[in-house]
Amino acid sequence: MSQSSGDTSEQAGATQAASSGGTSASDKRPIMIEADKLCKYYGRFSAVESVSFQIRKGEVVAFLGPNGAGKSTTMKLLTGYLAPSSGVARLCGFDMNTNRLAAAGKLGYLPENGPLYPDMTPMGILKFFARARGLSHKTKDRIDHVIGQCDLSTVVNKPIGKLSRGYRQRTGMALTLLHEPDVLILDEPTAGLDPNQIREVRETIRKLGETKTILLSTHILQEVEQMASRILLVDEGRIKYDGSTAEFAKNNQSLDECFQEMTTARN
Ligand SMILES: Nc1ncnc2c1ncn2[C@@H]1O[C@H](COP(=O)(O)OP(=O)(O)O)[C@@H](O)[C@H]1O
Ligand SMILES: [Mg+2]
Repeated sequence: MSQSSGDTSEQAGATQAASSGGTSASDKRPIMIEADKLCKYYGRFSAVESVSFQIRKGEVVAFLGPNGAGKSTTMKLLTGYLAPSSGVARLCGFDMNTNRLAAAGKLGYLPENGPLYPDMTPMGILKFFARARGLSHKTKDRIDHVIGQCDLSTVVNKPIGKLSRGYRQRTGMALTLLHEPDVLILDEPTAGLDPNQIREVRETIRKLGETKTILLSTHILQEVEQMASRILLVDEGRIKYDGSTAEFAKNNQSLDECFQEMTTARN
C-alpha cells in the first residue's frame, strides 16, 4: 500500500507505482491509461493537483473519492474532453493533448450524466454514433450486439427523454461499447439506479473486465470489492491511495472506515 504524503516528486511517483496493485516495475503489460502530473485549475482553484498513475492492460481500477474530490475532472482530462492546465494524459500511449483522435477509437467514455439528446431514440443515437465513428459495414452487427448486451430491445424506438434513468444509463453504456473499445472510462456508472439495476450494471462491468481495461469512478464502497482489484483514492484533487483493494482495508477495518480516515470531512 502507498499513502501519498503530498510529495509530488518523481521519486514519490515511482514509489507509488512500484507498490501499487498490479503496477510494479516488473509488470510488462502495456500501459493503457496514464496520468502524468495532471493539473486542472479553475481560476485559482485547483480541482486536480499533480495527479499521476498508470493503469495496465486488463486492470479494473476503482476511482474513489468524496463528492467534489476531482474524479470527473480527472476523467475528462484522461479522455481529452478537457485540456489540462499542465501535465499529460495518455491513452494507449497517445498524448491526449496532441493525438486525441488516434486515441478516440480505442476509448469508450461514459460521462457522468449519460447521453443528453432527449429527442433522439436509442436506435437513432446508436446509428448516429456508428456513422460518426466510421463503423460502416459493421454498423448493423455492432448495433444489434450492444442492444442485446445492454438489454435495450424494448425501448430502442422511444425518445431518450422519456426513458427511465436505468434505460438512459444503458443507452449510454451501449454508446460507450459500440466501437469495441479496449479501454473504458466510466464515470459513476451506477449513480441513481435502483438495486436491481445496480446489480445488472455491476455484472456487465465484471464481464467487460475479463477483456478490457477499466477505470470506473464511484463513491459506493461496496461496489469496489466486487468489481475492482485496485483502488485509486482521490481527495481535494490529490491521490491519497494507490494500491490493491485487498490492502486498502487493513487491520480489520472496513473499506468505509479507511475511506473516512483518508478523506477530508466536508459538508
Ligand atoms: N467548470 C468548473 N468550474 C469551476 N469549478 C469546477 C468546474 N468543474 C468542476 N469544478 C470543481 O472542481 C472540483 C472537482 O469536481 P469534480 O471533478 O466534478 O468532482 P467529483 O467528480 O469527484 O465529484 C469541485 O470542487 C468542483 O466544484
Ligand atoms: Mg463526478
